[in-house]
Amino acid sequence: MNLAGRRIVLGVTGGIAAYKAIEVCRRLVDAGAHVAPIMTEGAKRFVGETTFSALASEPVQTSLWDEDSPIPHTRLGQGADVIVVAPATARLLSAYASGYSDDLLTATLIATRAPVIVCPAMHTEMWEHPSVQANLETLRSRGVIIVPPAEGRLAGGDVGTGRLADPSDIVAAIERALLVVDGERPDRDLVGLNVLVTAGGTREAIDPVRVITNRSSGKQGYAIAAEAAARGANVTLVTTVDRQAPSGATVIDVVSAADMEAAVMPLSQSQDIIVMAAAVADFRPVVVADRKLKKDEFGADGPARILLEPTHDFLVDLGARKPTGQVLVGFAAETDNVLENARGKLARKNLDLIVANDVGAPGAGFEHDTNEVVLVSATGMDHNVALTDKRSIARHVIDAIVSIRAVH
Ligand code: CTP
Repeated sequence: MNLAGRRIVLGVTGGIAAYKAIEVCRRLVDAGAHVAPIMTEGAKRFVGETTFSALASEPVQTSLWDEDSPIPHTRLGQGADVIVVAPATARLLSAYASGYSDDLLTATLIATRAPVIVCPAMHTEMWEHPSVQANLETLRSRGVIIVPPAEGRLAGGDVGTGRLADPSDIVAAIERALLVVDGERPDRDLVGLNVLVTAGGTREAIDPVRVITNRSSGKQGYAIAAEAAARGANVTLVTTVDRQAPSGATVIDVVSAADMEAAVMPLSQSQDIIVMAAAVADFRPVVVADRKLKKDEFGADGPARILLEPTHDFLVDLGARKPTGQVLVGFAAETDNVLENARGKLARKNLDLIVANDVGAPGAGFEHDTNEVVLVSATGMDHNVALTDKRSIARHVIDAIVSIRAVH
């Protein structure tokens, strides 16, 4: 399950197991989630605020009163995809069950509609106390998810039930809760799918200093990667440019067409969707000099000549080896006969969809923040997308891919 970009509030209360919440926090952040930690006064006696602030995605919050905004609990509660309290003390369970919201964590818990997971940890006697069990029952009946404590060594050397669940079980509960949320959210329609996107123009070396390249900025490819990630996909971005990648995406940096092919081909069979937004060079120098060519040895007595050879069009290979169910998307940047050329490429490369754009049109194509495209699909349907920002174009491209998957 992809936690990338998910907003998780991590509540930590005052129990000895508070140190294990550090591990939960680290795992969530490593998986690309945005973690906002809240500590109670009790928690601060067990672990340092600095530890959480350093590991989490935003500084730890401990009070209803120390943010500029007077309502931090509603910001945290409304913005969360899920809230997890680990460890949850008997006091927290009691306050939450009765709606007694005298601190930031309890106020946030009742200011949210997101799923809430509580992970109790306490001594066996407390865990078994009827008041604790009754509070848990109340919370369970309201849909709160309980990750029960495990058996083992407790603080002070006692052994029994009450140890905080293992961090991996807590993370798994978070993932399950998010899957339920996703099932109810149509905008998370790529959850669990592997999506590979290529972006940017390749650079083909002439010598160690000079390259042949093209004007692709990579913006459209990055926008597609960001849209796919926001809709829940596991995104791999193979790129020639250094831009802000969507959080959680696996980024593979490449330079030339041959590098891009070497990065993409081994991953191709495991992808549900491949979008080849990169402007792959069609030609490269036959010989790459191993030292910088001097002016006088290269075109000294007239126009310089660099002998070019075609690069390998690996989109053709991807089309030929396309696994069942995979949606393969190409791009066609054209200056004339846009649709005719795009349809030719769609058929020749065995694509499901081609995003055709007239790079000569005002505001469209290379380097711009906007674009205007025609989505040409193998089913014969053309869909014009009028001039708009590249993220909106990305949304149309992903929508078209989702429709193709539905009839595959
Ligand atoms: N492509 C590729 N490998 C290449 C060249 C292109 O995988 N060596 C991919 C591009 O990423 C793009 C699609 O093929 O998605 C179309 O690229 P384009 O250069 O427009 O197509 P060509 O078939 O090379 O046609 P032409 O250059 O004649 O327009």
